[in-house]
Amino acid sequence: MFGKRAKYNVLFVCLGNICRSPSAEAVFREAVDKAGMSGKVEVDSAGIIGYHAGEGADPRMKRHASQRGYRLTSISRPVIAEDFNRFDLIVGMDDRNIRDLRRKAPADGRAEIRKMTDFCTRFDETEVPDPYYGGAAGFERVLDLLEDACDGLLRYVSRQAETER
Ligand code: 4NP
Repeated sequence: MFGKRAKYNVLFVCLGNICRSPSAEAVFREAVDKAGMSGKVEVDSAGIIGYHAGEGADPRMKRHASQRGYRLTSISRPVIAEDFNRFDLIVGMDDRNIRDLRRKAPADGRAEIRKMTDFCTRFDETEVPDPYYGGAAGFERVLDLLEDACDGLLRYVSRQAETER
């Protein structure tokens, strides 16, 4: 399974690690659990900035997520250099996240860096927009896009498991 590694490690990243990436973590973990892959896939999240480090997810994001049955339990932390070797896949939410991740990646970093919307099949968006300064619709939009992307991401991770044996 996953080459020499026992587990496939996925890190979701957004700007503050209090809205989009904690939600991605919860939505993907549920998809992994439902697929019976929880022993094979490790999921975490982090932020480009450490401004909210130590805080739980944004209460607005928590509320919208809980209405769909997701519990956001992550505590915000910034991305660190070791993440680029600890994780197989680092998934950013928008183009700026991707630029910042590439800039932070050490020369020997082996993590693949991808954008969340690359895995969408129902929505045709190219970013998961930052909901922080907007209203309720923005938080719902985040969850719609994440649920779509997580389905695609699960298929991608399952294929990695088959091809890297
Ligand atoms: P997130 O949302 O990147 O989805 O966690 C944001 C949270 C906080 C800030 C910006 C975006 N902020 O500027 O503090």
